[in-house]
Amino acid sequence: HEADAYRTDLMTITRFVLNEQSKYPESRGDFSILLSHIVLGCKFVCTAVNKAGLAKLIGLAGETNVQGEEQKKLDVLSNEVFVKALVSSGRTCILVSEEDEEATFVAPSKRGRYCVVFDPLDGSSNIDCGVSIGTIFGIYMVKDDHEPTLDDVLQPGKNMLAAGYCMYGSSCTLVLSTGEGVNGFTLDPSLGEFILTHPNIKIPKKGKIYSVNEGNAKNWDGPTAKYVEKCKFPNDGSSPKSLRYIGSMVADVHRTLLYGGIFLYPADKKSPNGKLRVLYEVFPMSFLMEQAGGQAFTGKQRALDLIPEKIHERSPIFLGSYDDVEEIKALYGAES
Ligand code: AHG
Ligand code: MN
Ligand code: MN
Ligand code: MN
Repeated sequence: HEADAYRTDLMTITRFVLNEQSKYPESRGDFSILLSHIVLGCKFVCTAVNKAGLAKLIGLAGETNVQGEEQKKLDVLSNEVFVKALVSSGRTCILVSEEDEEATFVAPSKRGRYCVVFDPLDGSSNIDCGVSIGTIFGIYMVKDDHEPTLDDVLQPGKNMLAAGYCMYGSSCTLVLSTGEGVNGFTLDPSLGEFILTHPNIKIPKKGKIYSVNEGNAKNWDGPTAKYVEKCKFPNDGSSPKSLRYIGSMVADVHRTLLYGGIFLYPADKKSPNGKLRVLYEVFPMSFLMEQAGGQAFTGKQRALDLIPEKIHERSPIFLGSYDDVEEIKALYGAES
């Protein structure tokens, strides 16, 4: 029995992805190189987040983004780190970030075949109080070889090659899917490597937790209000669900993935398309949920079937345990 502290068969995220890529003989390792640059960005943001209070990274940057949100210093810093890391990888051609109004088209000399959509820092409202925050990303392949256009990123989520998030919490955890299941890696700071700690994550078929901002209840539509009522006052004799809401999508989704249950950011009268952005919040999390055996629904359709028309488009989202989402779909009259 090997002493765990010094296991010699360390499965790092780099080795893991290389193993997966070896199944595609034609792959030239481009994806592994792209991923290694995303991982670099996550490591950098992890240290910046951990030092935020000390490095005077708390507070506002004095700018607002296209979302009309006041940008935090860490929002801006994280965004710059990821844009620079992704461009320098030489494997990307279009980048879409929550913090940049326009998409970034990489210069031909540095151009690759991947389009990356990302939320460099998710849960910004939680930075100053030290609650978990994260980075979310999704990866598309350009549609074909001619000049890249926005159409290459306005693809349905089901066309993503890979999606993942990194959560900066009590530990730094990177959860990734390249279309063959979901795996979780934890940063070992002494090695500076992400080590496989959660192989083949599967979400429980049904959960006991619902996760929503109840403060919006006044403006919910009928089916959402009815569903939340059922969570609190079940009429089938089952016990009420617990409410857990952190306000960082990455943290709420990570808990849902591991413990089961449902996360919802519904439409409401004030925001008919909800709040969460399709490309870099809804799609990556929906991709992961489906890969883990769960599902993701917009109130009208399967989330991954949505075809966005604008890069910062929003959509309502109900995602999590398979059976729990089925209940919502029934209330919205969607066929299961
Ligand atoms: P971001 O910090 O990247 O702008 O995202 C914040 C999002 C998401 O993380 C979270 O689920 C949601 O905002 C919380 O919104 P409310 O505060 O309206 O509940
Ligand atoms: Mn924001
Ligand atoms: Mn976000
Ligand atoms: Mn953000």
